[in-house]
Amino acid sequence: MGMENRRIASVEAGLKEDGERKARVGKITRNFFLHIHSTRVHPHSMKPAFTFGLGIILGFLFLIMVFTGLILMVYYTPSVDTAYQSVKDIVYIVPGGRIIRNMHRWASQGMVIVVFLHLVRVFYTGSYLGKRSLNWVIGVVLLILTLLSNFSGYLLPWDQLAYWAVTIGSNIAASAREFTDLLGITSGFDPGGFFKKLLIGGEGVGQPALSRFFALHVIFLPLSILVLMGVHFWRIRKDGGLSRPVKFAGDGGSTHRWYSWPVVMWTELGILILVLVTVLGIALWADAPLLEHANPSFPENPAKAPWYFLGIQELVSYSAFAGGLLIPVLYLVFLFSIPYRDREDHHVGVWFSGKDGLRLVLRSAGFAFLLVLLQLFIAIRFGGIREWFPGISQWFVMWINPATVTAAIFLILAEFTRRRMNSTRMAALVLFTCSFVALVVFTAVGIWFRGPNWEFFWSSGQWPVL
Ligand code: HEM
Repeated sequence: MGMENRRIASVEAGLKEDGERKARVGKITRNFFLHIHSTRVHPHSMKPAFTFGLGIILGFLFLIMVFTGLILMVYYTPSVDTAYQSVKDIVYIVPGGRIIRNMHRWASQGMVIVVFLHLVRVFYTGSYLGKRSLNWVIGVVLLILTLLSNFSGYLLPWDQLAYWAVTIGSNIAASAREFTDLLGITSGFDPGGFFKKLLIGGEGVGQPALSRFFALHVIFLPLSILVLMGVHFWRIRKDGGLSRPVKFAGDGGSTHRWYSWPVVMWTELGILILVLVTVLGIALWADAPLLEHANPSFPENPAKAPWYFLGIQELVSYSAFAGGLLIPVLYLVFLFSIPYRDREDHHVGVWFSGKDGLRLVLRSAGFAFLLVLLQLFIAIRFGGIREWFPGISQWFVMWINPATVTAAIFLILAEFTRRRMNSTRMAALVLFTCSFVALVVFTAVGIWFRGPNWEFFWSSGQWPVL
């Protein structure tokens, strides 16, 4: 009798457990949150100083862009005759229009900054290693799409800032012409001209450019980002959650994991509120720029590309081909290839791969900073080889300039490190750090220290009145 009772009790307990499991599964399938998150999360992934929440912040900034963008689209008209006025109407007539436009603008700038910070955190924590290489590659594509999305939006207000920034951008796209011009083949083979035409639909920025940029900005790029973001998140789940050091790798047991619902849900909600409040606060405090109506016959001087391309514009001032094509392409090849060149998977999830790596990173950052400053000092004070040897062939100028010399030194240094330390991860740390520091310094110079005719000035207060 006692045995029978125990059997019935255990069957009942089994049924109850089954019911609870079904209820749990039902909850998961009905819950959107648990569709994009795994049900459990490793405590290591929740450490604020591991991710800084940067990926989530990016996702929320993108959502703000989409919502505010949809509202702006109701009032905006993509025609060279009416675009500027429609933006003015949004700012001055549409109720709340100014705030929505400001939020859209500042969230987009935030995305550019945060996408680089996220790249930096993923790189230095070795989170591209092992099975996460594909997600790194998807990330690099997302980085490119984020920049393009921002750039395509730049033209839409059709003011002087927009017009001349995109004119500069389209000239950078034609950088290959320096090379084909030197070979004397541009009239028959003109890839630079092709890229420029692909981008703006002609030799100058006009209605075809505005139509293209509008289509890219409101349809093609946001949809591509959305799809790739979905794949990016799905990959994180497939890869077993966020990266963590090898010592936690086998730690998949339920006792050491937290349930995503509600721990992660509350954390993300907190981040969402923080992002919203920050963007709204900035939007209330600062207006997005809107200069006079675009005037093709009155160039801005200096005409500057959007700030995140000013590092490239600085390099283009030494050589169009090297700065506008060679170095950016090399940089992208480097970024894409990192997880395939460096397969030292045991470094996964550890900031800077430990103390040795951190020391190397700090030394590389210091070295790159001084090297770039020295090159800039020489270029600004004494000019380049074009000034030193006025009759010299343009071929030399194209291959020997601060852009190419800096890149060559960094490459040699990384190869030297790889051989000396017998480690591809250490070489990657050196090359990534050096190139990133150089990018930041060149960009800062372009933003703050270049004035009319791309001359060097300590501040815009010193600019001559033209
Ligand atoms: C629109 C752009 C992007 C969005 C919205 C995004 C979003 C996210 C999110 C939410 C996470 C998880 C949380 C976190 O790490 O903060 C993540 C992780 C990751 N992201 Fe991104 N990301 C973007 C761009 C990038 C870029 C530019 C890269 C690098 C090239 C990248 C590579 C990765 C990798 C490898 C992981 C897994 C990290 C790990 O396992 O620790 N992502 N991303």
